[in-house]
Amino acid sequence: MRTNAKMAEFVFHSLSEADTERLGSALARALPPGTTIALIGTLGAGKTRLVQAVAAACGVPREIATSPTFVLVNEYRGTRRICHFDAYRLRDEDEFVELGPEEYFESEGLTFVEWADRVENCMPRERVEIVCEAVGETERRFCINSQGEQLGSAVTAIKDAIDAAG
Ligand SMILES: Nc1ncnc2c1ncn2[C@@H]1O[C@H](COP(=O)(O)OP(=O)(O)OP(=O)(O)O)[C@@H](O)[C@H]1O
Ligand SMILES: [Mg+2]
Repeated sequence: MRTNAKMAEFVFHSLSEADTERLGSALARALPPGTTIALIGTLGAGKTRLVQAVAAACGVPREIATSPTFVLVNEYRGTRRICHFDAYRLRDEDEFVELGPEEYFESEGLTFVEWADRVENCMPRERVEIVCEAVGETERRFCINSQGEQLGSAVTAIKDAIDAAG
């Protein structure tokens, strides 16, 4: 796998939810404070499941980390503070702005945004992007890359954390 500091990218093939838990643990360990993570992918691709995996790695029970489809934003406080947006049901980008995402983007926590492609103009320039894809009943493909200039090393760190965990 080829990576470089500025434009790191790699694909994580998950064959099971246990694999997705491993990715979640790596994200929880490797993402720098204040990182925003754009989650992109169709219904059932595994966006919420991945946030649950990160939350679990931070000591937040999985059942607490539910999809914020109706409440639009959830906050979990474990070993790290996690904010979880879902833009699926929003009418437009203005409605997203009304939720006050800037405050979360600027916080020290990790901020996940499901359906980030729907509110792309409101997303911070510096972000980690994870494109999620269902390729079978239990098989998922997560393509992880950095947008902007500062988070390339974070993507490399995620990959290293996965490799270190075996
Ligand atoms: N390897 C895997 N990784 C993640 N989820 C998996 C995997 N295998 C099966 N699943 C199942 O796939 C489903 C993913 O649903 P999830 O709610 O995370 O999708 P989503 O991308 O958030 O969709 P939506 O756009 O509706 O919010 C869950 O039911 C989960 O149990
Ligand atoms: Mg979801």
